[in-house]
Amino acid sequence: MTQQFTLTVNGETVQVEADPDAPLLSVLRDDLDLKGARFGCGLGQCGACFVQLDGKVVSSCDTPMWAAEGTSVVTVEGLGSEGALHPVQQAILDEQAAQCGYCISGVIVRAAALLETTPSPDADEVVDALDRNLCRCGVQRRIISAVVKAGART
Ligand code: FES
Ligand code: FES
Repeated sequence: MTQQFTLTVNGETVQVEADPDAPLLSVLRDDLDLKGARFGCGLGQCGACFVQLDGKVVSSCDTPMWAAEGTSVVTVEGLGSEGALHPVQQAILDEQAAQCGYCISGVIVRAAALLETTPSPDADEVVDALDRNLCRCGVQRRIISAVVKAGART
C-alpha cells in the first residue's frame, strides 16, 4: 500500500506517493526524473546510487522511503548547475576522469561530502573516502587526481 511522503530534494519540497518500502533510488529516478543516481548492485555495495541524506552519504538503493520521510536529499544534480559546476564536477571534467561514467555520480556525491569535512584532501584521504565507490573501468587514478585538484582549488 502506498502513502504520501514529503521530503526536500535539492532544495525543493516534494511530495510523492510511494510504497514505504520502496527504495529512495527508484523514487528519485522514476518519480522525480533525477537520473543521476544509478542502480548498480542494489545491495549498498557499489556506491553508484550515493546521495546525501541530511548531509550524510547513503546508498539510495537500500534506503527505504519510510526512512527518507522529512529528510533533505541532495543528488548529483543538486550539487552544481550548468555554468556553475561543483568543484568536483569541474575537476572530473577537466581531468577527463570518467570512462563509461556509470560510477561517476556516486563518486562526485561522496567526494563533495569529503571536501565539506576535509577541504584539501591528499590522495590517501581521497582513496579512503572513495573506498565504497566501485569503478569497473579502471580510471580510479584519474578520479583520485581530480578530487585532489578540486580540493586544491577550493
Ligand atoms: S546500487 Fe546502491 S550501492 Fe550499488
Ligand atoms: S567510469 Fe566506468 S565504472 Fe567508473
